[in-house]
Amino acid sequence: MTTLPTRLTDLTPVPPDEIFALGAAYAVDPHPQKVSLGAGVYRTDDGKPWPLPSVEKAERELLAENDLSRHEYTAIEGDVPFLPLARDLMFGFKGEDSEEDAKARIATVQTVAGTGANHLGALFLKAHLKPRSVWLSNPSWANHLLIWELAGVPHKSYPYYKAATRSFDFEGMMSTLESEAQEGDAILLHACAHNPTGLDPSKEQWIAIADLCERKKIFPFFDSAYQGFASGSPDEDAWAVRYFFNSKPDMEICVAQSFSKNFGLYGQRVGAFHWVTGRNATSLRDIVFGNLCHYIRGEFSMGPRVGTSIVKKILTNDDLVAEWHEDLRAMSSRIKAMRTALYNELVRLETPGTWEHIIEQNGMFSYTGLTPKQIYLLKEKYHIYLIKSGRASISGLSSKNVLYVARSIDEVVRNVQ
Ligand code: LMR
Repeated sequence: MTTLPTRLTDLTPVPPDEIFALGAAYAVDPHPQKVSLGAGVYRTDDGKPWPLPSVEKAERELLAENDLSRHEYTAIEGDVPFLPLARDLMFGFKGEDSEEDAKARIATVQTVAGTGANHLGALFLKAHLKPRSVWLSNPSWANHLLIWELAGVPHKSYPYYKAATRSFDFEGMMSTLESEAQEGDAILLHACAHNPTGLDPSKEQWIAIADLCERKKIFPFFDSAYQGFASGSPDEDAWAVRYFFNSKPDMEICVAQSFSKNFGLYGQRVGAFHWVTGRNATSLRDIVFGNLCHYIRGEFSMGPRVGTSIVKKILTNDDLVAEWHEDLRAMSSRIKAMRTALYNELVRLETPGTWEHIIEQNGMFSYTGLTPKQIYLLKEKYHIYLIKSGRASISGLSSKNVLYVARSIDEVVRNVQ
């Protein structure tokens, strides 16, 4: 065996990212009935991407304005007028003066979408909060594991999913954190539309989680990737974040905010990171902000500005906001309709097992409970693509393929364990 002329002696191959590799395999599959239930992206009933009508209107207006500085640098913290808009969308401020004290708690910077916000937050926490562990739900979005691994913070898992009942394991989560979480640990919480299970805590359960974080001094790190997309209401989907913020004013928290799904701006990479100080520590806000900018400057100098220009245009115009709310309702209600259609057909076919979870889960995904062997067969024989955990991106269903998908699931469930 010859020795390679390299210094990279410890470099080993990395397996491809499952979600994006599945998308690539789907793209080259010539089968006419193929169905993609892989990546969490919205699709129309024709299986097409959907630039939101509110976004298209904003784009036309921006084009007509012909702003000569539209390709200039912004600031290191990002597109400056975008930052309070992102903050107010997340925390619910409506521009009242009485909210100035609350706003003074928040340092906001623009990030490269939700992943970038999670990454920046993880780096910042690692350096300055030095958690011994970050607690991730089991299961969680696979990229959470990678982000925290790259940041150098070991992760632990809290139970989240009860396979037997296909439900949220609130008791398991609470008892594990109660007995094992250490003061100073961080916990990653999905603000709404948990990825991959589609199972969210109830409001009462969120209140108990907030109490536990406060009592045990665990740092809550929210990932908000689906605000408005899940329920159709940005306020409803921000309930948990706003509860922590308003009801625990002495607690520090942070939020990674994505605009990928709710504005359909996947490739534009629009995001924000919010650090919230305790109410008696607002003097720290600017110092945190400066430190976040320091990381940004060293990594990518500043976030991109096309996507933020679109979001700004919409969020500063009442008519466009109303249209955007319509768009959110259109997306969330089509997904709910597809959940019902899939469920009804599985029930009609008397497919072995229980399927209520498909209509009870929330947001982009259903955690189907299908086994790896069943998923393999769905792909190989029926050209239906979903990731190995059994997570299905419901948006890939349409009135044209949902019966085919239900019948395929039925056959697979009857034939393979
Ligand atoms: C997903 O979970 O499928 C999406 O959030 C896409 C991604 O970046 O993984």
